[in-house]
Amino acid sequence: MSSTYNNSESTALLSSGSSCSRRSRLASCSRGVWAVTAIATLATLAVIAMAWAMLATNDLNGGGGDKGDRRLNSTSVGRFIHITDLHVDPNYKDGATAYSQCHRVPKTSDHSDDSSLTGRFGRPNAKCDSPVALINTTSAYLRRQWSQKVDFVAWTGDSGRHDGDAEFPRTLDEIIEQNAIAAQSLRHAFGSHIPIVPNVGNNDVSPHNELPGPGHKRARRTFRQLAHAWGGLVPDDQLATFHYGGYFARDLADYPQGGGGLTALSVNTMYWYRANAKVGGCKAKDSPGLAQLAWIRWQIRRARERGRDLVILGHVAPNQDNYRPSCYHGYMRTVAQIVPPPGPHSPPIIHAQLFGHSNVDAWAFVGPDADWASPTNNTASDSRLWWERQVDEEEGRFGELIHGVWSEEEQSMRSETTVPDERDWATMEDDSPPVRPAVPGDFVETLLREYERVIMQTPRHPRLGVTTISPSVIPKLLPAFRVFHYLRHTDSAWRHLPPGTLLDYDVYTANLYSHNKKAPPVDGFYQRLYRFSDVYGINDLSVDSYVRWARRLLTSKSMRKRFRALTFLDM
Ligand SMILES: *[C@@H]1O[C@H](CO)[C@@H](O)[C@H](O)[C@H]1NC(C)=O
Ligand SMILES: *[C@@H]1O[C@H](CO)[C@@H](O)[C@H](O)[C@H]1NC(C)=O
Ligand SMILES: *[C@@H]1O[C@H](CO)[C@@H](O)[C@H](O)[C@H]1NC(C)=O
Repeated sequence: MSSTYNNSESTALLSSGSSCSRRSRLASCSRGVWAVTAIATLATLAVIAMAWAMLATNDLNGGGGDKGDRRLNSTSVGRFIHITDLHVDPNYKDGATAYSQCHRVPKTSDHSDDSSLTGRFGRPNAKCDSPVALINTTSAYLRRQWSQKVDFVAWTGDSGRHDGDAEFPRTLDEIIEQNAIAAQSLRHAFGSHIPIVPNVGNNDVSPHNELPGPGHKRARRTFRQLAHAWGGLVPDDQLATFHYGGYFARDLADYPQGGGGLTALSVNTMYWYRANAKVGGCKAKDSPGLAQLAWIRWQIRRARERGRDLVILGHVAPNQDNYRPSCYHGYMRTVAQIVPPPGPHSPPIIHAQLFGHSNVDAWAFVGPDADWASPTNNTASDSRLWWERQVDEEEGRFGELIHGVWSEEEQSMRSETTVPDERDWATMEDDSPPVRPAVPGDFVETLLREYERVIMQTPRHPRLGVTTISPSVIPKLLPAFRVFHYLRHTDSAWRHLPPGTLLDYDVYTANLYSHNKKAPPVDGFYQRLYRFSDVYGINDLSVDSYVRWARRLLTSKSMRKRFRALTFLDM
């Protein structure tokens, strides 16, 4: 199999950003600035200098989280970690060549140029996965710095190494073992009292990107073995659901006042992902993608009955390039709760939609688009889609649509011989092309154009949401993770925002360029790269604030520069 890096994930996305290297940023990346007047040039330089000074100060604050910050040091504020894409590779060798994917040490010493060789904790910017030393040190660091400070951990998949080395073809057993190493590392870091919510990534299945629908033997084996490797991270009462579809729900944290709390939905994005040729789109009555949307709707209804709010986590972020069109629209319609399921309380708020896969630090709006928000053009007052009605009206069951989610018996009956050939799913392929042609080229430009498109829509839909992508532990850039701060109960200091609202986030990175030369004390292995509110001057992460953030980026060139650099963890 040829290199799986080339056709997937963010390698293509990264090429544009990494042309501005850490050192050359001021010299080459600000070139456009020199064309304008001298005054503007000086002003721009002053802004850049201030930004640098600010970032340098932040850097020194790293390690402990919110030292010196009273704003977030309150019992109203809770924290959680989003960590993703560990890509554990036990074959990684210190001193190996980057072109062997860090698997082979050169036999002769003709490699006088040391820079082409790997280091102990990993090799940034190469087609190499994470050495176990990086995973272990990350675990030790998280244990010392964060285990007492966070309420839960979102872990969005891809713990298996890439399958890019012809001399080491990857097997499912290996992926399972790498998932076990990752799960043990996180358990060691956070203990058993902090919920850690795992998720299935496109490199947690074998072959890469290929996951047949529920009931198929290979899917069943994958889900069973992953649940086992994760050692109890999927709650017992969710195992039947997870073994069926690779998704599950788990309560994370209760609000300390007034009842309710946050519940996680760990979704299996492989059933919406274009690259998974084993399943089709979300139109067909028995498509795995539609079954999962129905499950989410049912979970939303359940959350509404229980007065809880939601956090969604998945591996591949929803957008028109990643998802099949009918799945992308179905996802947006469902999480935006265009026609909310009935329930006694107000509809649950989906406070976070956390994804990985792309290795960068980014976000996007997700929400109503005029062309799909009201797809049922009938005059009847009930504007639900047929399957939404079915989910709402079947008491606690999904009816025929996803019959079997609850029934182990049903699953065991669906042996390989009674399930249609995997390739039959291809007939469910969406016939509609993407709504808009995929925008080639620059990743950040694409994000900005999307922000512009969404905030130009008037009136803004009240159910607009935001998806965030956290940077990865695998050092495609540098090893990194995000710490989110969220509101545990309403507080006048926070504009009386509803509990569960995200307030701020910090991005932490490990500087492998220096760590590979001299390992720092474990407490300082990761340092804070930046805090959102410091860089952008915005006080919280409510959707209104994201709209403000988008406006600020669209109107300020210096903001955009900073945003672009930070997307690629560049200062
Ligand atoms: C945070 O609050 C606690 C208790 O109020 C206090 O002891 C601590 O010094 C504060 N830390 C910071 C960084 O403000
Ligand atoms: C990583 O940690 C495990 C468990 O503590 C240990 O057995 C292993 O030797 C460590 N490996 C490295 C490379 O540090
Ligand atoms: C509904 O369909 C009718 C007839 O096909 C069309 O004239 C009308 O504009 C449609 N309404 C909406 C809201 O799409």
